[in-house]
Amino acid sequence: MPPYSEPKEGETLLKLNDVHMRFGKVAALAGVDIEVKKGEIHSIIGPNGAGKTVMMNCINGLYKPQQGEIHFKGQKINDLKPYRRAELGISRTFQKIELFGGMSVLDNIRLGRHIHLKSGIISGALYVGRTKREEISSRRFIEEEIIDLLEIESIRHKTVHMLPYGLQKRVELGRALALNPELLLLDEPLAGLNLEEVEDMARFILDINEEDRWKVTCILVEHDMGVVMDISHQVFVLNFGNKITDGTPEEVQNNPDVIKAYLGEEDLYATRR
Ligand SMILES: Nc1ncnc2c1ncn2[C@@H]1O[C@H](COP(=O)(O)OP(=O)(O)OP(=O)(O)O)[C@@H](O)[C@H]1O
Ligand SMILES: [Mg+2]
Repeated sequence: MPPYSEPKEGETLLKLNDVHMRFGKVAALAGVDIEVKKGEIHSIIGPNGAGKTVMMNCINGLYKPQQGEIHFKGQKINDLKPYRRAELGISRTFQKIELFGGMSVLDNIRLGRHIHLKSGIISGALYVGRTKREEISSRRFIEEEIIDLLEIESIRHKTVHMLPYGLQKRVELGRALALNPELLLLDEPLAGLNLEEVEDMARFILDINEEDRWKVTCILVEHDMGVVMDISHQVFVLNFGNKITDGTPEEVQNNPDVIKAYLGEEDLYATRR
């Protein structure tokens, strides 16, 4: 496979071209095109069952679309398994928290580096000499950076299942960051959080996207329209597996088809701050 090209800020990092994902008769994605530029927060919104999580699963390789192409850094990645995509720098959080509840916060974050990697801990243990020392020191460094960023110093040794839900969501973000990703897929990171926790989490996402140390491109699936419209560069609207529209938050909010798709759900503007 030819080398991956390194896009600069503002150039295409990820591209989906006519992606179809069917489950029996259900077309969860019915020909989706999306282009995500390096440096963006690109949100995906849409009613329940629209296909948002399926889209995330196709991007990180949990699902394999029957048709269409997925390109990361200019290379087709359709045939790569999730761990290979993780190695390329695609990391994610899940709609339903995926953590080891019986383990500490720090151990969960540490495992984040290995979870997606096929070889994982076993091959990690086979690293020898200098390589291993370098690996360990850089790992420690990123753990500290994550703990610092997410302000979880005081709970680093706490067992995850003892923590309130809001903090568990934060730890999950930490686990995803442990991979030092270039592209971070966030599936409803604000769901179930109270107002204060929502504000904290939105700030962390912005920091991850903007701070020089991180500069991570994010794809955000969220129902909280206030936050989506506040922090996104681009918004992509999905319904029944089809794109309704995409554009800047302003463009999307004023699109009549978007307003129609949301009728009967929460008022698109109700949560706008
Ligand atoms: N593994 C699967 N097998 C069969 N059908 C599936 C599977 N995964 C998703 N679907 C179907 O695909 C459609 C899209 O589901 P998806 O989970 O992507 O919705 P969503 O937009 O994430 O909704 P929500 O906002 O409720 O999370 C739904 O009709 C769902 O039932
Ligand atoms: Mg979902």
